[in-house]
Amino acid sequence: MTEPGAPVVDPLTPADLVRCAEIEQELFAADSPWPLSGFVSELNAAHTTYFAVRTVAGAPVAGYAGISVLGRPGDHECEVHTIAVASEYQGRGYGRVLMDALLRVADASEAPVFLEVRTDNDPAVGLYKSNGFEVTGIRRNYYQPSGADAFTMVRAARTEFAEGHTNS
Ligand SMILES: CC(C)(COP(=O)(O)OP(=O)(O)OC[C@H]1O[C@@H](n2cnc3c(N)ncnc32)[C@H](O)[C@@H]1OP(=O)(O)O)[C@@H](O)C(=O)NCCC(=O)NCCS
Repeated sequence: MTEPGAPVVDPLTPADLVRCAEIEQELFAADSPWPLSGFVSELNAAHTTYFAVRTVAGAPVAGYAGISVLGRPGDHECEVHTIAVASEYQGRGYGRVLMDALLRVADASEAPVFLEVRTDNDPAVGLYKSNGFEVTGIRRNYYQPSGADAFTMVRAARTEFAEGHTNS
């Protein structure tokens, strides 16, 4: 059961996408924000899963996040495609509940999770590190047109063995 006042996470729907494109424009203006058509493609892709976060059920989308699962069963890899919370809702735990939803998808496939993030994006890097991601490298000039650098980060696969058993 959802606690009173807690945000609601549910599947992103086609009706949410105009608002997503607006939020995207606001948050990623310097780095080629996805247009509406980009969100439509992402939502329709067979290998992606997208979530919305809302203040209450049925409310407009306050944030969104998507992840892909690629590869074969037993050898899956996940990639975070995006995670974003509209600025007026940031700092309230909405990003964290979206990330929890993405990681449940990855953990169901026992898959490692990869992502890129601007090296100067402290809130996002903080969110990722607190969820077990580690920096594995830097991609120079990854973001365009800003030319900002990206960290590549990975979170190791969570398997039943790793979570529940020890060798001792
Ligand atoms: C990154 C983002 C999704 C986080 O969402 P949020 O709802 O503001 O974050 P939350 O309130 O759930 O906080 C979760 C964690 O993020 C980190 N965090 C959030 N804001 C932070 C800040 N200003 N500085 C440092 N760390 C921060 C903390 O680890 C925090 O955990 P804590 O509250 O236990 O300390 C949000 O800031 C955002 O949409 N930013 C713009 C878009 C973006 O950069 N997306 C990522 C692209 S790779």
